[in-house]
Amino acid sequence: MKAADQLPLAALNPTTAQRPIVVQVSGLKKVYRTGFWLNQKVVPLKSCSFSIFQGETFGLLGPNGAGKTTLLKTLLGIVRPTAGQGVLLSRPLGDRAVKRALATCQKAPISMTT
Ligand SMILES: Nc1ncnc2c1ncn2[C@@H]1O[C@H](COP(=O)(O)OP(=O)(O)O)[C@@H](O)[C@H]1O
Ligand SMILES: [Mg+2]
Repeated sequence: MKAADQLPLAALNPTTAQRPIVVQVSGLKKVYRTGFWLNQKVVPLKSCSFSIFQGETFGLLGPNGAGKTTLLKTLLGIVRPTAGQGVLLSRPLGDRAVKRALATCQKAPISMTT
């Protein structure tokens, strides 16, 4: 049996270990090419791996430019990963049926009047 510090965190938590995985990514990498000649690179995701289980509350925190939006866009199939793979709702990233089933609203201005 593996020592506790060698197990993935989820395996240590019996409440999540028995639940289905809703999101799982492995080695996700995104390279944006920028500049007039597209000869400059920005790499917001280098090798991103994690799982989210059904019913789990998951927080994605990081400073501006950390790659949070890029990760979400990649999960939603808006941006194609340069490398790596993932599964969302039991389908590969970018799956059209999953895109149809989900709705997102990113960076939309909200105005509230009373
Ligand atoms: N379409 C794009 N083309 C080139 N660079 C991009 C593009 N989108 C984001 N970036 C760059 O990728 C990095 C991560 O951006 P982003 O994912 O928006 O971070 P966050 O949401 O954490 O602030 C930033 O350096 C940003 O300038
Ligand atoms: Mg963002």
